[in-house]
Amino acid sequence: MVHLKSLIQSRYVIWFLLALPAWKYVHELFYPSRHYPELMQLSGELSVQILVFTLCITPLTLILRYSDWGKYISLWLLKNRRYFGVAGFTYAVIHTVLYVRQTFDLELIWLEALDWPLGTGWICVLILLPIALTSNRKSVQKMGSSWKWLQRMSYFAIIAGFAHWLLLDFFIDNAMMWIVPLVIAKLVHLGFRLYSRFKQRIPKAQTS
Ligand code: HEM
Repeated sequence: MVHLKSLIQSRYVIWFLLALPAWKYVHELFYPSRHYPELMQLSGELSVQILVFTLCITPLTLILRYSDWGKYISLWLLKNRRYFGVAGFTYAVIHTVLYVRQTFDLELIWLEALDWPLGTGWICVLILLPIALTSNRKSVQKMGSSWKWLQRMSYFAIIAGFAHWLLLDFFIDNAMMWIVPLVIAKLVHLGFRLYSRFKQRIPKAQTS
């Protein structure tokens, strides 16, 4: 009998679950339907949602580590973070391919990319590309400190992604539902970092 713990820890199970929503977009690529606008919206939103979740993992682990089960979840999240990031990027690529396939006119694609609403989408994908390509152990070892710097660029990518969403969507509350949690998570992260720096300084000040 397959053990539940090994199922949760298996990367193949995580890959499978992350790939599950992809089938309808891949189906659309081969058999275009009337659902194109709806699928564009869904694939774009899914990409942003997964990317936001990935960026919230560090702040989440800072809170979760205070309990025993929280420590376990934190380890699991940190171990699998890159799979979430790569999944977010893959849905952004599928979203882009759907658009290119539907538009099918290089001149029009170029002209639309020069405008802010779609240009911000292209900026987002172009920033995410090197980040996704270097999301492996070999690159971490080869690139050293520049790897961390590159990973931090993901914040610019998500800002561009949100700009793209806000410029295209009539209702800003859809994007806001994801912007607000991300901002809160980052404030929590910043708070923890400032607090731990402050704590490190106190013993030094006391001994001097
Ligand atoms: C290569 C660049 C991209 C192009 C050309 C592109 C194009 C489009 C198009 C044509 C739409 C449909 C607009 C409409 O309904 O009128 C759309 C929607 C959307 N895209 Fe992109 N996109 C790109 C990249 C991205 C990326 C990287 C993300 C996320 C990280 C994203 C997120 C979204 C979202 C959330 C929507 C839904 C907006 C709404 O609710 O109307 N897009 N995109």
